[in-house]
Amino acid sequence: MRTTEPGLPAASPPDPPAKTITNTATTPFSGSPSSDVITVAITGASGALGQALLRRWHQQGARLIAITSRETPLELLDRAGMPIPHQHMVWQVGEEQALIAQLKEVDVLVLNHGVNVHQGRSAANTQLSLEVNALSSWRMLELFATQARGRRAEVWLNTSEAEIQPALSPLYEISKRLLGQLISLRALDLSPSLRIRRLVLGPFRSALNPIGVMDADFVAGQILMQARFNLGLIIVTPNPLTYALMPLTTLGRWLYFKACSRSEPQ
Ligand SMILES: NC(=O)c1ccc[n+]([C@@H]2O[C@H](COP(=O)([O-])OP(=O)(O)OC[C@H]3O[C@@H](n4cnc5c(N)ncnc54)[C@H](OP(=O)(O)O)[C@@H]3O)[C@@H](O)[C@H]2O)c1
Repeated sequence: MRTTEPGLPAASPPDPPAKTITNTATTPFSGSPSSDVITVAITGASGALGQALLRRWHQQGARLIAITSRETPLELLDRAGMPIPHQHMVWQVGEEQALIAQLKEVDVLVLNHGVNVHQGRSAANTQLSLEVNALSSWRMLELFATQARGRRAEVWLNTSEAEIQPALSPLYEISKRLLGQLISLRALDLSPSLRIRRLVLGPFRSALNPIGVMDADFVAGQILMQARFNLGLIIVTPNPLTYALMPLTTLGRWLYFKACSRSEPQ
């Protein structure tokens, strides 16, 4: 895993250099804008929603860490075409431990990376979907929770409406549902000390979904607005059914998981 500042070439592997941003006092995003600087790290940073979220957080004065699986530095511009300052971190699925170890000052970690293999169902696509959409995010959630113990921090996990609705992509649905269920189960142990927010989004335009009806910037704006209202379940979709079914689904899971599982010593 490598880190660079924008404008500089990516550092050569194998050893990740130390974090290069200067730390200042930070206050976690806790539902209302803070006058202190918040550090936000976002995976899938080069994607449509990743970039839109980075721009929106920039408008709020956050310090940004763009986490991407691409070596090329991210060209992140504001509406006036000016470069947005950010730290650039490169990772690959499977490198979660090394990545999270570098996020010690992060207040809000947004796990946003995702892949859609559409009609694929091969063993390779099954592994890719499970690793990218579900297991890497679950590992990061666990690692970040351990690291963030004793301080206030948040993890936002981008599942999808596909948690409960068809997405015409079986492996996408399976992997996003797995992630959604893992969040519900593990939140029983993790959420007292870590604020976990779930992003349940309807179709928006991106490489993953070129025919999405919403615009990624609109979705990012809605996400941050709902977070300001301190919602843990953030839903942005034109589909009214999701607003009714998703809270019921999470409530049902909470009751079932609480009744049928127990907390265990680490
Ligand atoms: N578009 C929709 O309609 C929709 C609806 C609901 C939920 N979502 C979710 O929203 C999130 C963002 O998606 P998007 O629509 O903005 O799509 P996108 O533009 O394709 O962005 C997804 C990003 O995920 C990262 N990624 C893809 N494959 C990866 C891999 N093998 N390893 C690590 N990172 C990988 C890439 O970012 P880097 O190159 O920077 O690593 C990619 O740009 C995803 O989790 C998606 O499931 C999308």
